[in-house]
Amino acid sequence: MSTREVLMCRPSHFTVSYSINPWMHPDEPTDTPHAVRQWDALYRTYLDLGFEIHLIDPLPDLPDMVYAANGGLIFDGLAYGARFTYPQRQPEAPAYSARFAELGLTVIEAEERNEGEGDILMVGERFLAGSGFRTDTAAHDELRRISGREVVTLRLVDPRFYHLDTALAVVDGARDLIAYLPAAFDGPSLDALQTLYPDAILATERDAEVFGMNAYGDGEHLVIAAQALDFPAQLRERGIDPIGVDLSELLLGGGGVKCCTLEIRR
Ligand code: ARG
Repeated sequence: MSTREVLMCRPSHFTVSYSINPWMHPDEPTDTPHAVRQWDALYRTYLDLGFEIHLIDPLPDLPDMVYAANGGLIFDGLAYGARFTYPQRQPEAPAYSARFAELGLTVIEAEERNEGEGDILMVGERFLAGSGFRTDTAAHDELRRISGREVVTLRLVDPRFYHLDTALAVVDGARDLIAYLPAAFDGPSLDALQTLYPDAILATERDAEVFGMNAYGDGEHLVIAAQALDFPAQLRERGIDPIGVDLSELLLGGGGVKCCTLEIRR
């Protein structure tokens, strides 16, 4: 097990005032203090696991800023900036990039449309990169050039699972252990996943629907949605300790544990 360094954003201004994914219903009420309490539980869970946590100031009028995973992708001390699809989130990119610079990271502005670690997950030495909704394959090419690493393109086909991190979890990157919902991917992507990760955990639909795949951990523990029913036993079978956290309020914006977490890799 290695410890983790992450960036998070307290949901002080969280609400659902627009809809850019099928989970968001602006006409339904949200409870911001409740969102903050639930987020605090995640924050304390990470502290208990010994993670080093940095914060970015939440900005008013940017209710989705709590989903820090979308702010960029950080590896080898480099921060590849986000380029958001929807205008509502575009002002988040410069705010995140400024924070990355403060944290001593070398910021690389993206030319291509991408939503950071929401769509690009690092498993061991390679990247798995989602496309289909929020990130263009041109960004995968850009990342290949910048990083010199293998980038595997995966095509998402279900609008409910619009970011890769809603359909696929890195359980233990050091031993190439992932979990995913097969139905979220097209045929060639599924073939690639089966070839690269023959021992992957296959998620159930009911777990993916409560954002069970939107999980984050240190290779020994995995913090997951408290609502996931099948995933905890699947994880225990592989020697991973599941820790459930209830982020029901943040689910109203279409996000969960992983969305609230951006990993910093120096
Ligand atoms: N409301 C946000 C959006 O649709 C949720 C982002 C969730 N983040 C994630 N990493 N999946 O952009």
